[in-house]
Amino acid sequence: MTAVAGKIREVREAVREARRRGERVGLVPTLGALHDGHVSLLRAARAENGFVAVSIFVNPTQFEPGEDYESYPRPTEKDLTICRQEGVALVFAPPPEEMYPAGFATTVHVAGLTEKMCGASRPGHFDGVCTVVAKLFGIVRPDAAYFGEKDAQQLAVVRRMVRDLNLAVEIRACPLVRDADGLATSSRNQYLSARQRASALVLGRALAQARERIEAGERDAASVADGVRRLVGNGPGVALEYVAVVDPDTLADLERIEDRALVALAARVGRTRLIDNVLLRNLRG
Ligand code: PAJ
Repeated sequence: MTAVAGKIREVREAVREARRRGERVGLVPTLGALHDGHVSLLRAARAENGFVAVSIFVNPTQFEPGEDYESYPRPTEKDLTICRQEGVALVFAPPPEEMYPAGFATTVHVAGLTEKMCGASRPGHFDGVCTVVAKLFGIVRPDAAYFGEKDAQQLAVVRRMVRDLNLAVEIRACPLVRDADGLATSSRNQYLSARQRASALVLGRALAQARERIEAGERDAASVADGVRRLVGNGPGVALEYVAVVDPDTLADLERIEDRALVALAARVGRTRLIDNVLLRNLRG
């Protein structure tokens, strides 16, 4: 049985009962419009917790002015069906005023990590993410929370917030999920026309090539980034915003690739902004 709560006190009550039953509590924060990427997080959470809570909240504070806050998809019934199928115990879908009542005055800001990559073009975005994630942790108080490597910068920022604020939650990272054609699964993919979607495939291809080159021994980060730029630049209808080759934890730019690297990019396909990445680990073997 999946319970649906719009109020914080209902969430606290449901979690209290789960604790009374001795259940471990897992949280999957989402914006909704659930897809296979989200489902992989739900399954990871189910595997490790007796009680899984999912938040579905299109968080206004993480959208920049002029972004797609209003038009972001909100397929409520479909989302609930997926949560039921996946054995989610509690869906928390609050209205904005439940999360941000009049007089709300606090922002959580992680410095440094949030200023580059996606932060460069979305200056308030990660403050919005950190503030809502900190609130969700305070509301649910989960043992573990599940995040996708699709949003690699978000993952690094949330990990840093948890460490810096000594929040008592384990952060679990789940691998990036792609659709069969290689496009990273995203709620925003539904904005793409068939032609735009075909154009967008160059992003995954360029990153796959970056991975192959690094696995074959390329260690020069600038050369890897140039290779991605060249491939994406040749694609029609795709405007690359950035490509970064960084340490996955600190997001510091790499010159030489050693043991670990995150190759991440953002691009616009028409008006739709897409992000994608590949993560390389244990390169030293
Ligand atoms: P949203 O974009 O809905 O994503 C929710 C979670 O699903 C994130 O941790 C994200 O990394 C993960 N996810 C999305 N697509 C994925 C994919 N293709 N493969 C693997 N994981 C994927 O990220 C947010 O919402 C919000 O910023 C949020 C953390 C909920 C705060 O509002």
